[in-house]
This record gives sequence, structure tokens and C-alpha cells, in this order.
Amino acid sequence: MTEATVLSADNLARYYEVSRGPFSKAATLKALDRVSFSVAPGKTLAVVGESGCGKSTLARLITLIEPPTAGSFVLDGIDGATATRTQRRHLRKTVQMIFQDPFGSLNPRKKIGTILEEPVAINTDLSAAERADMSRGMMQKVGLRPEHYGRYPHMFSGGQRQRIAIARALMLSPKVVVADEPVSALDLSIQAQVLNLMMDLQDELNLAYLFISHDLSVVRHIANEVLVMYLGTAVEQGAKETIFDHPRHPYTRALLAATPRVNPDDRKERAVLKGELPSPLNPPPGCAFHRRCPHATDVCSIERPEPRMVDNRTVACHHAETI
Ligand SMILES: Nc1ncnc2c1ncn2[C@@H]1O[C@H](COP(=O)(O)OP(=O)(O)O)[C@@H](O)[C@H]1O
Ligand code: SF4
Ligand SMILES: [Mg+2]
Repeated sequence: MTEATVLSADNLARYYEVSRGPFSKAATLKALDRVSFSVAPGKTLAVVGESGCGKSTLARLITLIEPPTAGSFVLDGIDGATATRTQRRHLRKTVQMIFQDPFGSLNPRKKIGTILEEPVAINTDLSAAERADMSRGMMQKVGLRPEHYGRYPHMFSGGQRQRIAIARALMLSPKVVVADEPVSALDLSIQAQVLNLMMDLQDELNLAYLFISHDLSVVRHIANEVLVMYLGTAVEQGAKETIFDHPRHPYTRALLAATPRVNPDDRKERAVLKGELPSPLNPPPGCAFHRRCPHATDVCSIERPEPRMVDNRTVACHHAETI
């Protein structure tokens, strides 16, 4: 944390007690376990990993929807886990969320203007006229026509609805935006437009993004830093170029090899990610990746690898130096 940081997490964890039926004891599911990172203003940390690895859980913690089970995070200088009511009110403006589903996340019975102004009406003393000006200005900023202010969500395309969701997230001038798979539901050509918009807005407003995606080709577009997750833990994290060009964790390599648009020539490595994703309720001992890893040795099934610095990135693998 040497440079300016607007969001940081230290050993953040979220566990769920899950019932396994009337005759078994409840089990603990570690949806997120000991994840640490920091994000600077104007920068993007991309969180990547297969479905179920804990990405949305992380998003819910950072946006104060759920409290962490352990660890801490600091948003705009305030400890998110122990914030007072007044501090939480401040943080609810400071951090905003954009969801994957541009259909489900907008109330179909409300006009766009109303949707955009709602957070402003709740959190500020601005007059109705001022709020209307603000939302028209924001519509323009995200590439929507201000004269569509009175339309309903169903009158817009998927890409336009995601622009509305972005506009709504920006109405309170947040410093941090958590975007959970924001383009995954959109067509490829529309994805690029929405990503470009997000990057323009980031530059203009100095926004920090926690950008969540299972798709590395999307991440390559937008990330400065990358955090790769597997079964709730961070397996590798560092600068985008380091992670994409010289990955050291076998899981990162497998993900990259499985993303044809990122790695078109690497066909022979394509089959590397063998086997099923284990159940997070019953993760393998030692390194959680060992049953799928082509480099596993005896120690991998016994000792959990702790994250450490190797070659300019943090990596949790016993053999990171040699593979
Ligand atoms: N409220 C909850 N109760 C129990 N388990 C949950 C809950 N929320 C998420 N999980 C589990 O936590 C793990 C991580 O889920 P999630 O964060 O949604 O992953 P991702 O967004 O990467 O797909 C999954 O195994 C999921 O089933
Ligand atoms: S610790 Fe072992 S099993 Fe885990 S990723 Fe490294 S080599 Fe593979
Ligand atoms: Mg998710």
C-alpha cells in the first residue's frame, strides 16, 4: 500500500453455515477465505475465476451488503467492517455496484429518470429540478439520449440498460465501483462498447473499479491488476501484464489456455484444466487445485500453499519458482 489506495482488503473472509439435511451437522462453506488486495483511484482490479469461486461474495462484502466473517477492508479510509452508522451512510455513497443482469436490476415499473434520481433523493437535499438536471446530464454522459428520460427499462436494449445501470451507480459520485460480471449478459460487440464507456468514465471521474468477470478476454481489456481466485482463495495476483504474459500458477495458466481469444496459438495447452471443480463444502486438502494440477507432487496434497511473492506477483503454489 505505498501508492494512494481507495480500497483495500486484508485477509477478508466470508463463511456460510450450510445445512446438509436433518441428520447431519451443518457444514461450513468458505465462500471467500483470506483474500487481500488494494486498489488505487482511477485503477481497475479484475477478479477472475470459475463460477462459484467467491467473486460475488467478495462483491457483497465490499458493497456492505454482508459483513465479513473475518478479516477487514478499508474503503476511502474507513474500516468497512467496524464502521459506525454515520460512516456506513458515507460509504454507501462512496461504493456502488453494477450487476450482471441489466434486465433484473432495473425496476420495470419506473421511468429511467426516476431510477436515476432515487439514490439522489434519498441521500441528498437537492430539489426535484436539480435532480432532474443531474439525471439528464448523467444520461448524456453514458451515451443515452436525455429526451428518453421518461421511458421505461423495457424500451431499451440490453446494452442501453447496462448504461442506465452505470448511470445510476454514478449519481452519487462514488469513488469505488464494484462491477459484478457487468458485460457477461451482452453480445460481444455490445460488450466492447460498454467496456469502453466504463474506461472513459474511469478516466474522467478517477473511479476505482473492482471488476468481476469469469472471462479473461474481457479482463485483458480493462484491468490494471488481476486477482485469480479458486474455490474462495486467491491463487495468483499481480499486474495485468505479469499475469497474462508470464503466469506462474498452474490454474492461471489453465484459465488462459482455455480462453481462445486471449491465447489463440496455445492449442496444445487447451486441455490442461482437467476434472471437475471440487465442492467448496468439501475442498481437497493441501492445495485445493491438486487433483486438477499437472504439476502436483506429494506435498501439494498435504500442505496448503501460502501466498508469497515470486517474480513480481503473489502466488500460492509450492512449485511457483520452477514451473
Ligand atoms: N448465502 C449463501 N449461503 C450459502 N452458500 C453461499 C451463499 N452465497 C454463496 N454461497 C456459496 O459460496 C460459493 C461462492 O459463491 P459466489 O460468491 O456466488 O461465486 P461466484 O460469484 O464466483 O460464482 C459458492 O459455492 C456458493 O454456492
Ligand atoms: S501447489 Fe502443487 S497442486 Fe497446487 S498449483 Fe502448485 S503445483 Fe499444482
Ligand atoms: Mg457471481
